Amino acid sequence: MPSNNLIPKNDFYSGFLYNKLFDPFSNNMRDLICTLVPENTKVLDVGCGTGYQLLRMSHKIKAGVGIDLSNKMIAFALKQQAKKGIDHLSFELANADDLSQFDDNEFDLTTMTMVLHEMNTKLRIPALNEMVRVSKRLIIIDYAVSPGLFLSGCMHLIERVVGGIPHYHLFRSYLKDGGVPGLFRKIDLRIIREETALMGMVRVWVGEKI
Ligand SMILES: C[S@@+](CC[C@H](N)C(=O)[O-])C[C@H]1O[C@@H](n2cnc3c(N)ncnc32)[C@H](O)[C@@H]1O
Repeated sequence: MPSNNLIPKNDFYSGFLYNKLFDPFSNNMRDLICTLVPENTKVLDVGCGTGYQLLRMSHKIKAGVGIDLSNKMIAFALKQQAKKGIDHLSFELANADDLSQFDDNEFDLTTMTMVLHEMNTKLRIPALNEMVRVSKRLIIIDYAVSPGLFLSGCMHLIERVVGGIPHYHLFRSYLKDGGVPGLFRKIDLRIIREETALMGMVRVWVGEKI
């Protein structure tokens, strides 16, 4: 079971505001992710936020579980799920570095969208290791590492202005880690497919354990 001293972490935009400000602009990226998810699979979405991604792929998957460290995000996701009457998804509060409530290989696929860059630096590798334990294949979506001067500037601006200083430090440490490819190398995860989203600012990496 996840540790008892789980402390929820909320941002000012967690829940309703995130759904209004970010979700509507992410549909192209969401649909791209949906095309990479095989039909009839069991999916774990780590750092699921408002549940938007899982809800959008719910028509093609067998079951889905979303976990997040923000209780406001989880409450919002549960409300959306109830509103849509979808009963093969569930959402729960958990920290990505401790997925001990799930068995080895319990899922066909684990997804994580725009989480690594804002996650506590020390938790990134433990979280990826947990994801590899519960499923053989991962789809990670996050900022591209060197997308060119203009897009790089946009990324820095968004993280500094919207996220504030603590987020910005985490974002910079993500770049220092070499982004997703750098983190994958540290735990011997092989990239088997790569796609571009949000005009090149974001990339989608599909990884498998070597
Ligand atoms: C930018 S939001 C992305 C939300 C969602 N994946 C999406 O695509 O819209 C980042 C999410 O990661 C969650 N998060 C950050 N650190 C986490 C951790 N250690 N464990 C679980 N969730 C975490 C935050 O609470 C937030 O909901």
